[in-house]
Amino acid sequence: MTTLFSPFRLRDVTFRNRIFVSPMCMYSAEEGVPNDWHLVHLGSRAVGGAALVMAEATGVSPVGRISPGDTGIWNDAQATAFARITAFIASRGAVPGIQLAHAGRKASTHVPWEGGKPLAANEGAWTTLGPSAIPFDDGFPPPREMTAADLDAVVGAFVAATERAVRANFQVVEVHAAHGYLLHEFLSPLSNRRTDGFGGPLENRMRFPLRVAGAVREAFPAGRPVFVRISATDWTDGGWDLAQSIVFSRCLKELGVDLVDCSSGGNVANAKIPVAPGYQVPFAEAIRREAGIATAAVGMITEPRQAEELLGAGRADAIFMARAFLRDPYWPQRAARELGADVTWPIQYGRAKP
Ligand SMILES: Cc1cc2nc3c(=O)[nH]c(=O)nc-3n(C[C@H](O)[C@H](O)[C@H](O)COP(=O)(O)O)c2cc1C
Repeated sequence: MTTLFSPFRLRDVTFRNRIFVSPMCMYSAEEGVPNDWHLVHLGSRAVGGAALVMAEATGVSPVGRISPGDTGIWNDAQATAFARITAFIASRGAVPGIQLAHAGRKASTHVPWEGGKPLAANEGAWTTLGPSAIPFDDGFPPPREMTAADLDAVVGAFVAATERAVRANFQVVEVHAAHGYLLHEFLSPLSNRRTDGFGGPLENRMRFPLRVAGAVREAFPAGRPVFVRISATDWTDGGWDLAQSIVFSRCLKELGVDLVDCSSGGNVANAKIPVAPGYQVPFAEAIRREAGIATAAVGMITEPRQAEELLGAGRADAIFMARAFLRDPYWPQRAARELGADVTWPIQYGRAKP
């Protein structure tokens, strides 16, 4: 028996193995509505044997999108389109999840293959929001410092998005608090210079992200897990770091969050990140141990034995993979062969079973 292919249960949801498809923006939606591209992209990874297929960072409001091509879940047409996708994912034995997101000061940009730079006014730019009026990088406009009413509206948007995710039959929601987007911007002292109850000491910087996570937890059915993706460090002196991430994760656990998905970076342009195989696993390991909450490791996990070893050593409960899944939607099938595990092969593909 391998750890990678052992089932994993959170609340009433059982994952058939520990292999999760990491959320990946496809920048291919119109008006936030997912389409056939998203069905095939997500659906083929469910056919490939992943346990959880997490739909991309999906805007809880139009201004919360990174780009005009992002998926959204602020209206019923979007939720209805997602329902077709979740039905297919579930029919293949995988769990459908969705990452709920607000891009904060990093919103209103071109899609990456058009340069990814901020949109100009005549290209449909919108005013971005942030904890403080500090731009992300050169060329980015400063976001508008959020008022108390803005904070309430964003909490409301996350709750409404969660309710729509329920109607679209998502079994997992993940709050995006990583990669320099809105909730991470509140956590990090480098992007949050507020002088009210939402800035300053750690307790204050955590207040808004915890409010959002708590509201999402309350709005999602008790039998279904809520994840939070964090950036465990800004990789920058004076920024957000692992020690603060551990405190934050303990608070998330108290709110009933089920798993912390441990990524890093994204809030400081040009931070020096020591990217290497498994480089973020130590964060998943430390948070799992110190905060006593389930964690997922992500980042440069590409090989079945690497995944098996880190899970077997108790460094994380599950792995998310992104680029390896873009290269090979059937990665779990390959991993099962390599590790000698038995997994269900799609019946339609039986004649090709090795
Ligand atoms: C095309 C692409 C889109 C991504 N979009 C998202 C996203 O929507 N939300 C997110 O949290 N991370 C996103 N990421 C980051 C991945 O989820 C993952 O954390 C990162 O790529 C590291 O994992 P990997 O080495 O397995 O690719 C994206 C990565 C890629 C390659």
